[in-house]
Amino acid sequence: MHNPIIVALDVPDAAQAATLARSVAPHVGAFKVGKELFVAAGPDIVRELRATGARVFLDLKFHDIPNTVAKAVAAATRLDVQMLTIHCSGGSAMMRAAEQAAQDTARLLDWPAPLVLGVTVLTSMDSAALSELGGELDPAAQVRRLALLASNAGLRGLVCSPLELTTLRSLVPSGLQLVTPGIRTTQDAADDQKRTLSAPEAIKAGASWLVIGRPIYAASDPAAAAQKILATLA
Ligand code: C5P
Repeated sequence: MHNPIIVALDVPDAAQAATLARSVAPHVGAFKVGKELFVAAGPDIVRELRATGARVFLDLKFHDIPNTVAKAVAAATRLDVQMLTIHCSGGSAMMRAAEQAAQDTARLLDWPAPLVLGVTVLTSMDSAALSELGGELDPAAQVRRLALLASNAGLRGLVCSPLELTTLRSLVPSGLQLVTPGIRTTQDAADDQKRTLSAPEAIKAGASWLVIGRPIYAASDPAAAAQKILATLA
């Protein structure tokens, strides 16, 4: 079975990330390195994780001019990450450049291209926050618009909230991978996540991968917590 659990290594340094990764590795499918850990520990943490054979999702949400994003994606591809994120709001040309850079760099290295995932609307943005920026005021409509733009620009995956899964599954090509944070069981604290589903509910709704942070890394026994979530997917 494909293990869809991606553990967010949302810890402040390389030592804590390595300890957490070692303990949960047998029960998860990949590790997510985000901005906090990457800024603190640098690309060496990605190399360290890759050296163990684990898949790595580099979540740096690139958003810049197409040339700069393409170069950042090429550098991430050379680090041998399996997934990375860009902001769809960077526009079609930026998304096409990112996908092209992933494909071209991987071809030169003779390994599979990483999945370039588009981030549509940050879940922290509501209608009031969008209205400050001008343009579309309805977050759900903006998510649909950016998802289609990403798919048309050639992206093969999107990050989306659990409650967007059903809509996006009916909107984008079926091969497009949907990566979903905001996973909680009824026993978990919701923390700052407002829209959550359990792991089996999210898979049923069409998620390809589940990003799980606090329910695993903040548990008293992270390995047991990961194992328990995986068992709900069997
Ligand atoms: O601890 P928790 O399970 O909420 O962690 C979810 C992870 O997914 C965090 O690394 C968070 O930054 C990320 N994420 C999110 N919501 C988004 C995009 C990413 O929670 N919309």
